[in-house]
Amino acid sequence: MCRAVFVVALVALIRPAAEALDNGLALKPTMGWLHWERFMCNTDCDRDPDNCISERLYMQMADVMVKEGWKEAGYEYVCIDDCWPSHQRDAEGRLQADPKRFPGGIKKLADYVHSKGLKLGIYADVGKNTCAGYPGSLGYYETDAQTFADWDVDLLKFDGCFMDWKSLGDGYMSMSKALNKTGRSILYSCEWPLYEWPFQQPNYTAIRETCNHWRNFDDVYDSWSSIKSIFDWTASHQDIIVPSAGPGGWNDPDMLVIGNFGLSHDQQESQMALWAIMAAPLLMSNDLRDICPRSKKLLQNRLIIAISQDPLGKQGYRTAKVDSFEVWERPLSKNQLAVAVLNRQEIGGPRGLAIRAVPGWKICDPQCNVTQILPQYKEMGVQTQQSKIVLSVNPSGTALLTVTPISKDFKGLSKLHWENTSVKRKHNTSL
Ligand code: GLA
Repeated sequence: MCRAVFVVALVALIRPAAEALDNGLALKPTMGWLHWERFMCNTDCDRDPDNCISERLYMQMADVMVKEGWKEAGYEYVCIDDCWPSHQRDAEGRLQADPKRFPGGIKKLADYVHSKGLKLGIYADVGKNTCAGYPGSLGYYETDAQTFADWDVDLLKFDGCFMDWKSLGDGYMSMSKALNKTGRSILYSCEWPLYEWPFQQPNYTAIRETCNHWRNFDDVYDSWSSIKSIFDWTASHQDIIVPSAGPGGWNDPDMLVIGNFGLSHDQQESQMALWAIMAAPLLMSNDLRDICPRSKKLLQNRLIIAISQDPLGKQGYRTAKVDSFEVWERPLSKNQLAVAVLNRQEIGGPRGLAIRAVPGWKICDPQCNVTQILPQYKEMGVQTQQSKIVLSVNPSGTALLTVTPISKDFKGLSKLHWENTSVKRKHNTSL
């Protein structure tokens, strides 16, 4: 074989399954706060000054994030969602913040957020209008990308309303290029697949090359039925979506609604555990100025955050359904495994599942070390394949564990379905 042909063939063989957007960002799932689920499109600052979409809200949130340990726990981005702009662009065609609600403008807000050691996110839309009817970026991708860069914004959530679905790909890719062209590092959060799914199966290779994370499914609501629908959608599409996640690009099941009104504490634990297993961005939408201590403790749980941020960067998935339990597992670095056992039965009391029913339990050959993180921290010690442990899980609650094999023989783990799927990012020059 001539040398050039051989090199081409070799490159084709070692080429990773999908390459991530090469902007050096989101090497781990993004952590922060996003206003939408909790504050929506409340623009009435006369009647509701504390909760309306205004610069005050983000400044207060940034203050609390520093004072109350959120930043220290890893929550970094303070993100604006819809309803921030003026209904009109300025004389030069640029987006401008609503002058009444953002008297200082976005640049000043970004300076403030940066002075706290945090980052600022903003929102726009690939189509003619945002979902709430504010000006969209269609026809203005370069102008808007440059405006956000000039304001020193660090993240763009780019929605997909009011856009012909056949042009979604072009639109999302054009904005990705426009952001890159500004030279500023702006994390790019997309909703491209969500808007494409009703028409055809999205091309996740292209999406991963374009975006740092991407919404696939409906907006999260402050209810258990909403959280369950996200679990169900994710599990039923896991063959398609899980292989596309990895450092630089993640599936986004939407915001954490922990600390609001609609979920019981067990259900909040289930959302937190499964978001960590799914390697999901941890973007809270709640009122950090007024949050119950138990929810705060859960959101700041270092062991769960460590699963979320695990450097191996593989998304977990549902591995078994047994007796109305769902088992979800995520391979972690150092041959560890995170296991979540979710009790989907919503009648009766706590129910037990023998730990040996967990498919990944095979890594305990001959032995493993088990730590339970939820519902309570418990060191379960050294176990074997014959372990008698029965996990007790409340209705709609989750037991979360890490399992560490004590052996040089890790053959069990490598049998996990996606363990060998390689999702890599391009060589990153900015690191
Ligand atoms: C869509 C998005 C939400 C939110 C709203 C704002 O519904 O999916 O996350 O951004 O628009 O209007």
